[in-house]
Amino acid sequence: MLFGKSKNLVGLDIGSSSIKAVELQSSGRPGRETYKLKSLGVEPLPPQTIVERDIIDNLQVSEAIKKVFLDHKIKNRDVCTGIAGNSVIVKKFSLAQMTTEELAESIHWEAEQYIPFPIAEVNLDYQALESSRAADQGKMEVLLAAAKKDKISGYTSVISQAGKNTMVVDVDAFAVQNAYEINYEMPINRVVALLNIGASLMNINILYQGVSIFSRDISIGGNNYTDAIQKGLNLSFERAEAAKKGDSHEGVSPQQVATIMNEVSDDLKNEIQKTFEFFKATSGQEKIDQIMLSGGTAKVIGLADLLADKFNTPVEILNPFRNITFNSKVFDPDYMADISPFSAVAVGLALRKVGDR
Ligand SMILES: Nc1ncnc2c1ncn2[C@@H]1O[C@H](COP(=O)(O)OP(=O)(O)OP(=O)(O)O)[C@@H](O)[C@H]1O
Ligand SMILES: [Mg+2]
Repeated sequence: MLFGKSKNLVGLDIGSSSIKAVELQSSGRPGRETYKLKSLGVEPLPPQTIVERDIIDNLQVSEAIKKVFLDHKIKNRDVCTGIAGNSVIVKKFSLAQMTTEELAESIHWEAEQYIPFPIAEVNLDYQALESSRAADQGKMEVLLAAAKKDKISGYTSVISQAGKNTMVVDVDAFAVQNAYEINYEMPINRVVALLNIGASLMNINILYQGVSIFSRDISIGGNNYTDAIQKGLNLSFERAEAAKKGDSHEGVSPQQVATIMNEVSDDLKNEIQKTFEFFKATSGQEKIDQIMLSGGTAKVIGLADLLADKFNTPVEILNPFRNITFNSKVFDPDYMADISPFSAVAVGLALRKVGDR
């Protein structure tokens, strides 16, 4: 849009443990925008409402969406939401150089090789990447994203049930990248791994020169800790969640909780290692130079240190509000600090505009 105000969207992150909504006000020229926080809301979801990012209880989710908009007086009904997990495929591949029109014509044929579902069942999106290395060889690199249509319609239908309009559907791992980009200086010649660890999923997105060069979602996250505590100490889900977050409870030994949690952290670390090994073997990159952690599970005590130690890399908790101003009379800074790790996806979604792809 050349003239007039381009329309902001509400970033609506429908995660399996809670719904997060973020609304930003942007000003300034494209590429040089500054952002101010307008609204921020979190609405917890009961366990089993969303399982592995499949919406099981539509009504519960649409009521929670309505509630978060009402409670936080969000008037804008146009949202950008995110999808993730095993029905979303993101692949980077190279092709002989061609024009934009040629690429648009051939992308379906190319995509068929990379997508394990019938092409008729997916929505496709793609982007040609700038790569001088590929160009030197007469090739171009393309980033392809594909999501199953039934997955997308599962999300858009609960959103419309809540009276809102889905204007853009993004992928969680890319939303985290957008949140990272507006808040941090992109380091030159360094490989940055963004790890967003939520309740049911870990989204891994590896960047080089500001571009995503590898991305994958793995089914592991905070629920693995809660499950292990629940089984090991014979507790309800709610008590196990509380114990995980460090709340003391009669009859629950903090020592035992810590032992169980360390075992799960080891599993998590091993999964990350497998992915990093695969990444190194396929990308030609030798090292991860920095890890940025986000998602609620980034708050597990000792996890950042464990990863820093294991991968011999600095690990930082991503603050999605680092460059976003907010009125501290409306948004309590302590509360902001508390929820900032798990707001990264919603902030990234809120950065998208109508017509973005
Ligand atoms: N202080 C804490 N210590 C440990 N874990 C925590 C803490 N606070 C939140 N968590 C965990 O973080 C997870 C929620 O994170 P997040 O909101 O990023 O996930 P989500 O988006 O709902 O899930 P999904 O994985 O489906 O995207 C839960 O498993 C929760 O128990
Ligand atoms: Mg999430």
